[in-house]
Amino acid sequence: MNVLVIGGAGFIASNLVDALLQEGYNLAVIDNLSTGARRSLSSSVKFYNLNILDNTLERAFQEFRPQIVFHYAAQVDVQTSITNPSLDAEANIIGTLRVLQCCTDYGVRKLIYASTAAVYGTPKNLPLTEEHPNNPISFYGLSKLVPEKYIELFSEQYGLEYTILRFSNAYGIRQSSKGEGGVVSAFLSRLLRGENVVIYGDGNHSRDFIYVKDIVSANLQAITLGTNRVYNISCSRQTSINQLLETMCELTGRPFQPTYCPARTGDIVHSRMDNYKARHELGWEPKYSLEHGLEEMINYYFKNRSELQI
Ligand SMILES: NC(=O)c1ccc[n+]([C@@H]2O[C@H](COP(=O)([O-])OP(=O)(O)OC[C@H]3O[C@@H](n4cnc5c(N)ncnc54)[C@H](O)[C@@H]3O)[C@@H](O)[C@H]2O)c1
Repeated sequence: MNVLVIGGAGFIASNLVDALLQEGYNLAVIDNLSTGARRSLSSSVKFYNLNILDNTLERAFQEFRPQIVFHYAAQVDVQTSITNPSLDAEANIIGTLRVLQCCTDYGVRKLIYASTAAVYGTPKNLPLTEEHPNNPISFYGLSKLVPEKYIELFSEQYGLEYTILRFSNAYGIRQSSKGEGGVVSAFLSRLLRGENVVIYGDGNHSRDFIYVKDIVSANLQAITLGTNRVYNISCSRQTSINQLLETMCELTGRPFQPTYCPARTGDIVHSRMDNYKARHELGWEPKYSLEHGLEEMINYYFKNRSELQI
């Protein structure tokens, strides 16, 4: 089966590409390498270095003829979305529309879309279920939500199948400190260099962290299951930023001495997503506790320090 991963040189999707290769799929990746890196991909993967906003996108679909498309390409920095909402909307909304048009023009069977907890905005209650109202508080949250609506309408109008996966804060190897959830890699690169760690706010705000390998396994399930459905993909466990840093300090043997700076706009105070629907309908469950995932990630970077992105 031909599988196309758009944004496949990035953090989460390059881990997905590794798993898809192991499963034996015929793979191609599209990426403009704005935040991703070619070195994250095996040389055996067919690679199109292009921007999804360019006309060359269509040529890649015409040539490769994918049956399944994973759409991961996005502007992922919340702060950039606030300072430059047009750039953010162009990449995330117009970019997804271009992908959708190619999917319907070239007979793609299913699109799997990487969405986010940011589409919910400030939680009215926790844990967030998929039915929670969508009131994003950042332009990034909005520019990830609007494509969900386009995907649903494209499905209705043209029969394109889809699965929308809303991830909580991801962490794992190849993560940059800039994107969504980049707090783990930001902390780790500083801890491993013996530098001071900065926490925005008082550190009591919390997140629901999920290890990248658990995200990958949910994506693999979505190839055959969960058609025309939306799922939260999370551990459903709340961890404060102070607790996260304490655990990382224990695992790296570094002292807990953060510097606290003012909180940033667009940041939600507490988040935890309910993952019941994904467990029951995708037959998926997260296998990694935060401690287990962090330990694996930290051990990897102890051995491969030069790969840690800042
Ligand atoms: N990291 C998280 O915690 C998290 C949480 C929820 C959702 N997501 C979503 O998962 C997806 C991947 O996130 P990530 O953290 O791996 O980010 P990432 O920046 O590592 O990956 C994005 C990839 O898309 C590519 N890209 C960006 N714009 C492009 C364009 N116009 N044309 C072609 N390629 C382009 C980048 O070069 C990069 O390789 C995003 O859609 C993001 O919204 C991430």
